[in-house]
Amino acid sequence: MKELFNDYVQSLETYIMFQIKQETQRLTPELTAKGRKPISLSMGAPVEAPPEFVTKKLIEAVNEDGLHTYTVPKGESYFVEAVATRMKNRFGIDLDTKTEICSLIGSKEGIANMIRALVNPTTDVTKQDIILIPDPGYASYKEMVKVSGGLAYGVPLKPENNFMPNLDEVAANLEKDGYSMKRVKALIINYPNNPLGAVANMDYMKHTVEFCKKHKILLMSDAAYIDMVFEGQPKAPSVFEVEGAKDVAVEFYSFSKPYSMTGWRIGWVCGNKDAVGILAKLKSTIDTGIYKPIQKAAAAILNSKEGDEYIVEANKRFERKQKVVVDGFKELGWPMDKINPPKATFYLWLPIPPKYKTSKEFTDAVLQKSGIVLVPGSGFGENGEGWVRMSIVASEEQMHEVIKRLKEDGFYFE
Ligand SMILES: Cc1ncc(COP(=O)(O)O)c(C=O)c1O
Repeated sequence: MKELFNDYVQSLETYIMFQIKQETQRLTPELTAKGRKPISLSMGAPVEAPPEFVTKKLIEAVNEDGLHTYTVPKGESYFVEAVATRMKNRFGIDLDTKTEICSLIGSKEGIANMIRALVNPTTDVTKQDIILIPDPGYASYKEMVKVSGGLAYGVPLKPENNFMPNLDEVAANLEKDGYSMKRVKALIINYPNNPLGAVANMDYMKHTVEFCKKHKILLMSDAAYIDMVFEGQPKAPSVFEVEGAKDVAVEFYSFSKPYSMTGWRIGWVCGNKDAVGILAKLKSTIDTGIYKPIQKAAAAILNSKEGDEYIVEANKRFERKQKVVVDGFKELGWPMDKINPPKATFYLWLPIPPKYKTSKEFTDAVLQKSGIVLVPGSGFGENGEGWVRMSIVASEEQMHEVIKRLKEDGFYFE
């Protein structure tokens, strides 16, 4: 039957996190038997329970009359209104609830469908529409573009410019590589960034807006980690704090990371009304919106004191756990003073020890010997090779255990 399926789907890789999960499951009995029960630091999914406030609201809503019917993909009025209030309170941004906000079944769905809405599919590489994606960046972007029949062109994120590349240079390189900026449909940015934890400043946000205006392309800002900045740090900006950004930009938000609600599958996109409208239209043919009790509970947490406090506490916890790991890697010989651990997200991006040839070789060794599940940097793009990503999502006790195992099993930086 395989030949029945289209070329785009045929070219897909299973999402790297699920590949790693399968391999971990296969090795679990053997690892457990030798006292190395797997500790998963691969997926970006916090293990803590969501705020009690939100689970209570969900239970109340499940028992309300009339909330079990189909919903509109754009989102129920109480949900989009809560989003508008949040955006106003948090960033001072005015959004029209009728045209500039759309609910999403998680931000992943929204980003994938926006790409699909932009790209005219073809397998002819000389004609494919291009989407600019961060490299290293969220592993799904590349596959989303591929399955939509487009071409993903990596925007290299390098430490020398604090991971905020000059986009005019990127455009010049793209032309040098034989492509044309005329084929580019969108630029995806992601700050705070997965896997680097890098945060952009307002000047850079302005640069991205100006670049997209100049080239008449859509700016897709993935703000999944926008709330996850450590205490005392400047807050991560929204692209809409740049004047006129709505002319070219949409921004994607998620409940998954800040509220540990990864399984609930809810988020939103807001901004440019043409882009939001097209996405809502596309979604109206392929999905039917999020379960109303989930929308009700999510709307309630968004502008609540409980929600805000939960985020502050979660960020403090991540910072504390990051310190455990950073101190541990220092003892293992990693050049941590040159590494500058991030001040946002729950990720740590580390070089692999020099004796390993590839990041995969290192993550395989750590999994097989110590039962610690990491993600090879190569999964995040060409610029990720030689690096490894650790999600600091397990408990503090487990983070200590990780360092202990690495020491016992001889994983020193050598
Ligand atoms: C950068 C980034 N964007 C989007 C997502 C998807 O999040 P969700 O679909 O749960 O909202 C993730 C998840 O890991 C991510 O890292």
